[in-house]
Amino acid sequence: MIDVRIYRYQPESDNEPFMQACQVDESFAGKMVLDVLECLKDADPTLAFRRSCREGVCGSDGMNINGRNGLACVTPVAEATGGKGPLVIRPLTGMPVIRDLVVDQKHFFAQYFRVKPWLINDEPSAARERRQSPEERTRLDGLYECILCGCCTSACPSWWWNPDKYLGPAVLLQAQRFLADSRDTAADERLAALDDHFSVMRCRDIQNCTDVCPKGLNPMKAIGDIRRQLLKNAT
Ligand code: FES
Repeated sequence: MIDVRIYRYQPESDNEPFMQACQVDESFAGKMVLDVLECLKDADPTLAFRRSCREGVCGSDGMNINGRNGLACVTPVAEATGGKGPLVIRPLTGMPVIRDLVVDQKHFFAQYFRVKPWLINDEPSAARERRQSPEERTRLDGLYECILCGCCTSACPSWWWNPDKYLGPAVLLQAQRFLADSRDTAADERLAALDDHFSVMRCRDIQNCTDVCPKGLNPMKAIGDIRRQLLKNAT
């Protein structure tokens, strides 16, 4: 049997959170963490967690698995436990828990909308589409693939310490995604909105964001690119 420790908190009945001990059979070693959660939910339908696509696309099942943020649907149980010890599942760090593994992401998405994550271009559009050269399109690689699971932001100590003022790696990667887009004409306005001591500059290059990103992206590089643009504008 595989031992599982899972964070439980149901605010209407629990005075405080606790770690629930349970087990699943050995065959789950070859499956994903989400399969374990589904099995446990069959036995106890009150267990709450988010999930949708089951294949690392929707970003809804970000959680902390054996101390590391990741998507339950694409994290193999054997990889999480290293083949020994219990599987330990907690909600994403630094976000208020609503219930069990479900966290409140209102603040995270409010920060996301602060960077205006849409194309801004008031010039008359071309007859069919705004075209990009292959080189211009390539600049979006490593940026557009973000699925907003929040794993990187939740792993960032700079964000834990200043969640009201520092935008965090996921949101800044999205900001750079539009700064890098040749079709967007609002770079000056976007940079001006980020130009303070905290929004970007509070990053301390800890690199947890890049280490945990389930899509293999590099938010720390995106933050560095924004910093360079801010510094260039200041000189
Ligand atoms: Fe969609 Fe895991 S369920 S990313």
